[in-house]
Amino acid sequence: MDHFTLRNGVLHAEDVPLTAIADAVGTPVYVYSRATLTRHARVFRDALSILPSVHIAFAVKANPNLAVLKLLAKEGYGADVVSGGEMDRALAAGMAAEGIVFSGVGKSEAELIRALECGIGQFNLESEEEGIELAALANARGLTASAALRVNPDVDAGTHGKISTGKAENKFGVPYDTAGEIYARLAVLPGLNMRGLAVHIGSQLAKLDPMESAFAQMGELMRAIRAAGHEITHMDLGGGVGVPYKAGDVFPSPAEYAEMVARVTSGWDVTLMFEPGRVIAGNSGVMITRVIRVKPGASCPFVIVDAAMNDLARPALYDAWHDFLAVEPTGERMTANIVGPICETSDTFAMGREIDVVKAGDLAIFRTAGAYGATMANTYNSRALVPEVMVDGDRWALVANRIDPATILAAEHVPEWLE
Ligand code: LLP
Repeated sequence: MDHFTLRNGVLHAEDVPLTAIADAVGTPVYVYSRATLTRHARVFRDALSILPSVHIAFAVKANPNLAVLKLLAKEGYGADVVSGGEMDRALAAGMAAEGIVFSGVGKSEAELIRALECGIGQFNLESEEEGIELAALANARGLTASAALRVNPDVDAGTHGKISTGKAENKFGVPYDTAGEIYARLAVLPGLNMRGLAVHIGSQLAKLDPMESAFAQMGELMRAIRAAGHEITHMDLGGGVGVPYKAGDVFPSPAEYAEMVARVTSGWDVTLMFEPGRVIAGNSGVMITRVIRVKPGASCPFVIVDAAMNDLARPALYDAWHDFLAVEPTGERMTANIVGPICETSDTFAMGREIDVVKAGDLAIFRTAGAYGATMANTYNSRALVPEVMVDGDRWALVANRIDPATILAAEHVPEWLE
């Protein structure tokens, strides 16, 4: 459920007409609903409350906006971060260092040191090499790093190939078959407190079965590692719960996910950790765009909007679907191709899609843009970096400025030998 609804013929975010935001900030612009984010955070947390001991670390990569992180910090969420930049954001939002999990396959030495010095709660190690390096860095500073070993269970997540992470050929984690030996070798290193295992098989999962079989495998591995005399107090089950992008699509609910987890992890006697991103943020945001013009196409017209693949990259990268709705629909429908102004064919949001009738100057939204939206924006074609707004009831605030091309240009320099 979300709070983007049609009222008196105008799409609103909570009590704010999207026309008001577009007029004040310009387009394209991302709009997040505080009530929706809060609701999603609580529904997920409440669903997991059937489990004995839980820590939820929001996957910052899904939406790193400071205001979003602040809201989630207030809801008791920690953070799953994959860079020093994300760690700084989580800390700036007031998240406790011990509630932060540091994931990522290529943490640099500088990032490991900073995270150690900040007292990060858990490092999710992606290789034995990383564990050895972290142990040495911690030991040299008289510190102990709490860590989990990320395991690649070789499970097909059944999602888009570019967002699958748990197949043997993917770069993530250590192979399942050697994980036990690696854990044992890391567990004896001074400077390292090996406390658990981590798994994340992919994102936007439509079915629970692949996760269930991955988690079951992790349970077996956990028992084998314990039987070899090592301690496991934490099991990080990652993120990946999918969300409906198309009106009418049905996805596993947080309650069904929690029931599956409860079934598989029964008797584990650990703190279960979760790294949800999309399921919290995805349907909490939309991107408003304005139609620049409509031109005829071979089989149907091109609706050219002022948002482009640099603002919302998912359709270009993953052929992803985002529902497109007029902000002030007339009730009439048309079939059209929705494209942005960027000079390549991948700047296409939809082909031959049945949509609300729109014409030049009209406002429209792309839905389900709260996760992996603004965070993946860039400035290709020397376009601005897209701004973000948060709505709360009848008030709203700019939570990220538009960074205009002039500001970006000002950060570039021509060497004097080229003058
Ligand atoms: N934990 C780890 C270790 C991850 O790699 C990810 C996502 C998550 C948690 C959060 O997954 P979620 O709950 O959001 O599914 N840009 C792509 C998605 C990439 C996901 C990368 N990892 C997209 O727009 O679909």
